[in-house]
Amino acid sequence: MILQKESKDRIIFPLDFPDIDSARKYIEILKGHIGLFKVGLELFVKEGPSILSIIKKEGRAKIFLDLKFHDITETVKGAMKSANALGAEFITVHCDEGRRLLESAVESASGKTKVLGVTVLTSLSGESLKEIGMREEFQDPLKLVLHRARIAKSAGCAGVVCSGLEASFVRKEFGKDFIIVTPGIRPSWSVIKNDDQQRIVTPSDAIKAGADYIVVGRPIRTAKDPVDAVKRIEKEIEDALR
Ligand code: C5P
Repeated sequence: MILQKESKDRIIFPLDFPDIDSARKYIEILKGHIGLFKVGLELFVKEGPSILSIIKKEGRAKIFLDLKFHDITETVKGAMKSANALGAEFITVHCDEGRRLLESAVESASGKTKVLGVTVLTSLSGESLKEIGMREEFQDPLKLVLHRARIAKSAGCAGVVCSGLEASFVRKEFGKDFIIVTPGIRPSWSVIKNDDQQRIVTPSDAIKAGADYIVVGRPIRTAKDPVDAVKRIEKEIEDALR
């Protein structure tokens, strides 16, 4: 569990926008209110790596570079080396290519960039795991998350991304120094149309389960007043930590 952080520092807002102009509106509104901006494929592919320094400067926040690397070892090594210069706080690599890939990602990461292993996407249910051919034991998301978290830990990853439903189990097995980032956050007051997230929890439950950081996108983005939504989430975090 990360210590001495303000509740707001635990909130990661994903900049899931098609270009910097649409992202800027939220960077402007949310700067100073959250801990990290997450840059994913949509914005990165459109705008390129230079976007990171712009967001850092304008958004006064750290960067979570969520490119979810998933390729052969040599390619991921190279991608990681290229990413080092960008100064992100976190970068993500899928766990399902196994320990060797994660180890080379960790070895190639330098500076302050920490590698997080993506265990099982929160948009996947047990049914989806069956559909993609996981054997019966691992059709239970919790079992698969723990299995992959073990691989991530032994490869030297700083932590993992998993849902709030698995966070307490990960925390219990891997202790306080293993970072847990939890997406699939849905405050009780949020209503998301056609939601693709499956393994969801409230901010309070995620923090109580041991999450260090929560990724909250649509509940903030679609709120009438995004800053008020962040403040409500912050309050939930504070109460949960008490
Ligand atoms: O809160 P919302 O569902 O809008 O958040 C969406 C964000 O969460 C996306 O940026 C997506 O990449 C991210 N996400 C993630 N890991 C998962 C599932 C979603 O980082 N397992």
